Amino acid sequence: MIPYRPEPLTDFHNPANQEAFAAALAKVEQELGRTYPLIIGGKRVDTGRYIESINPSKKAEVIGRVAMAGQDEIERALEAAWEAYRTWSRMPVIERAALLFKTAAIIRRRKHEFSAWMLLEAGKSRAEADADTAEAIDFLEYYGRQMIDLARRADDLLTPISGEDNHIEYIPLGVGAIIPPWNFPLAIVTGMTVSAVVAGNTVLLKPAIQTPVIAYKLMEALEEAGMPPGVVNFVPGDPAEMGDFMVGHKDVRFISFTGSKQVGLHLNELAAKRIPGQRWIKRFIAEMGGKDAIVVDEGYDVQAAAQIIAQSAFGFSGQKCSACSRVIAHESLYDELVDRVAEIAKAFKVGDVRDASVGTGPVVDQKAFEKVTTYIEIGRGEGRLVAGGTASNETGFFIQPTVFADVKPDARIMQEEIFGPVVAITKVKSFEEAIDVANGTDFGLTGSVLSTNREHLAYARHHFHVGNLYFNRKCTGAIVGVHPFGGFNMSGTDSKAGGPDYLLLFTQMKSVSELL
Ligand code: NAD
Ligand code: ALA
Repeated sequence: MIPYRPEPLTDFHNPANQEAFAAALAKVEQELGRTYPLIIGGKRVDTGRYIESINPSKKAEVIGRVAMAGQDEIERALEAAWEAYRTWSRMPVIERAALLFKTAAIIRRRKHEFSAWMLLEAGKSRAEADADTAEAIDFLEYYGRQMIDLARRADDLLTPISGEDNHIEYIPLGVGAIIPPWNFPLAIVTGMTVSAVVAGNTVLLKPAIQTPVIAYKLMEALEEAGMPPGVVNFVPGDPAEMGDFMVGHKDVRFISFTGSKQVGLHLNELAAKRIPGQRWIKRFIAEMGGKDAIVVDEGYDVQAAAQIIAQSAFGFSGQKCSACSRVIAHESLYDELVDRVAEIAKAFKVGDVRDASVGTGPVVDQKAFEKVTTYIEIGRGEGRLVAGGTASNETGFFIQPTVFADVKPDARIMQEEIFGPVVAITKVKSFEEAIDVANGTDFGLTGSVLSTNREHLAYARHHFHVGNLYFNRKCTGAIVGVHPFGGFNMSGTDSKAGGPDYLLLFTQMKSVSELL
């Protein structure tokens, strides 16, 4: 088998690629406003109640209407998934992996089309959407190979003894609930779904209400690739109405969740409670929020640091769990760094991402707009506003990149996840103090250290407690198979998506021993 290699990103400097993307966008624009059903056991189900998905750059534009599942549909989907599990769990690993490879090929062929859906439904710029599609392809290619490898090497892990024939097998768990966020509406949805499926499980996929259409497009690709009915059941819906019901259901074997700390902790509690008739302890896998810091050490190039901070903080309007929302800078360069970051933030062009010259697009919806602007008001009382602070939700949900300086480490904007284009900067006297401040939140997802001092980098390697630590680069943009991704503490259950151990989370080991 050809070894896994990450999917190359599109070079949008090339006019041919610009044209290909524009053509895909025009095609997708012709398809806006359609209605999409649930998919249960391979059958289309229309419930007559719909999520209206809108374009956050242009809120009057409806991307699509997607049917909403209620509790009855969840019951039916669970039945269909358990029925499909009987055969899918016994399907040879190579066949399950082939479904992923074929889906990757389908998405790759229509790459710009998938990206165009994300540009319109999630407000991703062309480049951010392209990276999201590439990451979805990576998950398919990587997890397919990982599962083949895991199955092949299992027996080599045992210690042989004479007189016995011993084998181990990584068998699937059963039916799972897949609950992704909206911010990587193709990559994370794909990664979470196919990791469970390639391990032999069947699932209920409940996409985020902000981005259900792109999730439906993934369903179409999986079906085109030959996925048997019932392996992935598509059940979008109102989380308040059916989310707790699904997670708390006795027939759910595992929950794979990516989202906020608040929702993750709530679902973890729910999943831990045994329901009458439930025959297992549910496995709960959660990837949650971040409050990611960039530490800028004495002597580092200030202009380079400011660029890295701006890229990490304002790309996709700061709506990445990995985004930089805190800067911890040494006093020797603090004032100059604040000025440079403010300058770059002010120069950002914010607007509808259909315009390729726009630097950053909208936040995802009205709720996000209100949350981020509320934090900007809180920030005015906690620090010195040096850039941004303005916002408009007239046509879309636009917030100017915002920078607060002189913020204390325990301020709310230094502690709570804002999930928008807002960064807070604080001053420290030493590198050790910087790492203490960096570690001083509930979270532990990503972090960067910008330093030319080897001893300081070594210190950070041991003391900066984050799942993804980066030196002298941005704190976003983990690549599948290259930078296994996931955080510590309140950032999740310490799993690593796109890493060599990830698939184990969706399996259980069976050991069979025969006396010879
Ligand atoms: P969210 O917690 O609001 O929602 C996440 C998912 O949970 C959505 O599908 C939502 O509909 C669902 N949900 C909400 N309540 C539910 C309930 N009661 N029952 C079942 N499902 C329910 O998060 P979001 O706004 O979609 O995403 C942003 C968050 O995700 C941020 O906190 C971000 O840091 C985090 N995130 C983390 C990672 C990571 O890898 N650690 C990656 C991406 C996003
Ligand atoms: N995996 C994404 C990143 O690293 C969230 O930016």
